[in-house]
Amino acid sequence: MGEGGYSLRAATAGDADFLTDMLVAAVNWDPAREAVGRDRVLADHRTAHYVEGWPRPGDLGVVAVEAGGRPVGAAWLRLFGPDDPGYGFVSGDVPELSVGVLPSWRGRGVGRALVGEVARRAAEAGLTRICLSVERANRARRLYAAEGFTTVGSGPDSDTMVMVLRGR
Ligand SMILES: CC(C)(COP(=O)(O)OP(=O)(O)OC[C@H]1O[C@@H](n2cnc3c(N)ncnc32)[C@H](O)[C@@H]1OP(=O)(O)O)[C@@H](O)C(=O)NCCC(=O)NCCS
Repeated sequence: MGEGGYSLRAATAGDADFLTDMLVAAVNWDPAREAVGRDRVLADHRTAHYVEGWPRPGDLGVVAVEAGGRPVGAAWLRLFGPDDPGYGFVSGDVPELSVGVLPSWRGRGVGRALVGEVARRAAEAGLTRICLSVERANRARRLYAAEGFTTVGSGPDSDTMVMVLRGR
């Protein structure tokens, strides 16, 4: 167990439900908006495909667990093709990052640790870049910039960001 009362481990097939919880949290990052329910997140392929069939070949994830083993956050990477791109699609060989932390655990460094660890493991696996999409108003954007993501494309409300992994 690390100093913050949690530790990091690789995400496994048994984490599919928790990753879905974190996907729902990511979709609903803005408390000022009407929440999108889990059923709707899973019924809409554009959001569901971040977790559908987890784990698939090429998937890579990290879960933060508190003492006792309960998951409190997750960051994971999935490859998408140009025929079925994620919101942050850059190229078929650049996996897209999703991240979420349980509300009661936010602001304690878990998200930063998860992003750093999944990037480290991705570099170790031979990947050269990872990407993501983030709405510009989301505070998570600051975390990504601080961790080394740079903006490579912008829509009306969101940015596509890429982290180059070489040398990590
Ligand atoms: C974004 C998120 C994963 C960050 O995890 P976290 O554990 O709260 O983050 P950390 O404690 O490591 O803080 C790192 C940075 O995240 C941001 N952050 C901190 N608390 C936050 C909060 N409650 N909500 C959003 N972002 C927060 C800050 O920029 C912070 O940097 P700072 O300390 O220099 O201000 C988490 O807040 C979350 O799950 N939010 C909802 C889901 C979401 O937005 N996912 C990303 C979609 S692109």
